[in-house]
Amino acid sequence: MTAPAPSAETLRAALAALLDGLPPKQAAQAVDRLMASYRGTTPTDAPILRDRADVAAYAAYRMPATFEAVHAALEALAEAVPGWTPADHIDIGGGTGAATWAVTAVWPGDRAVTVLDWSDPALALGREIAGANPALKDAHWKRARIGKDLALPATDLVTVSYVLNELTPADRTALVDTAAASARTVVIVEAGTPAGYARVIEARDRLIAAGFGVAAPCPHSAACPIVPGEDWCHFSARVSRSSLHRQVKGGSLPYEDEKFSYVAATRLPVTPAPARVIRRPQIRKGQVLLDLCEPDEQVARRTVTKRHGDLYKAARDAAWGDAWPPADH
Ligand SMILES: C[S@@+](CC[C@H](N)C(=O)[O-])C[C@H]1O[C@@H](n2cnc3c(N)ncnc32)[C@H](O)[C@@H]1O
Repeated sequence: MTAPAPSAETLRAALAALLDGLPPKQAAQAVDRLMASYRGTTPTDAPILRDRADVAAYAAYRMPATFEAVHAALEALAEAVPGWTPADHIDIGGGTGAATWAVTAVWPGDRAVTVLDWSDPALALGREIAGANPALKDAHWKRARIGKDLALPATDLVTVSYVLNELTPADRTALVDTAAASARTVVIVEAGTPAGYARVIEARDRLIAAGFGVAAPCPHSAACPIVPGEDWCHFSARVSRSSLHRQVKGGSLPYEDEKFSYVAATRLPVTPAPARVIRRPQIRKGQVLLDLCEPDEQVARRTVTKRHGDLYKAARDAAWGDAWPPADH
């Protein structure tokens, strides 16, 4: 029998349980300190996540957002390879395993799962949290250092989420090349910043050179039409805020938007989106303005008006990151 798909709520509940007994102020201070390290001197030559309290605070703070970003990227991949389910999955620099949760949410059921990271406390906590997700009960949590000596077995799916940023340029290249040599499908997610986008594009170019096709977000596997320095391709995932978020960031909004850049590339036959909505659609009276990345390697603004009938209705429902037009049009 296949395990039921875990939800973001299951993950949230498991994360909330981690903070039981940790004074809220201490958790908020640990997050503040970790965010400062992440903004500061990375790449480092030793793990930033040093002990359980560090990892618990950081996981409770960041995992819901990472989960939603990776989940959105995987949903776009799943649309481009309908019917495919990965038979096994390796999450590199997987930390506490947010991407493994996202994979089990998009493709429920049992598969071999391996999480590789150099931080023992992150792996230990990831294993503990995964106790709440039946599809991860047999996952392997292994210490490994990313670099030219990293060896991977042949695998269906490799995920690399919010990791490239922490690596030297040489380790980044080695990681993408190793993933390309062993995985049939590679999904890379980074922060939705100009620098995150630049790292994604560099990886995208390497994967294409290794014979991969782009499944998402791009409608083609040719050069990205976005001019670096002028703009960057990124998307947004809505994340409900926990009390820890409110404590760290202040304010009372019940949600925040996680910005991310990604590429999903594969050796499988793909049907990429006809075009992709690359900004929040602007709804005006009687018309919707869509910024689209299109298959002829162009970025264009298209206006969909009432005259377009059903397509206009679809445009009013279109969201940033969606394929356009929707599959049923
Ligand atoms: C920002 S966290 C992201 C964790 C997880 N992928 C996620 O999306 O939540 C970056 C992870 O990369 C790991 N990492 C950084 N450099 C590494 C290296 N050289 N070798 C192995 N793991 C590394 C860190 O220990 C950390 O768990």
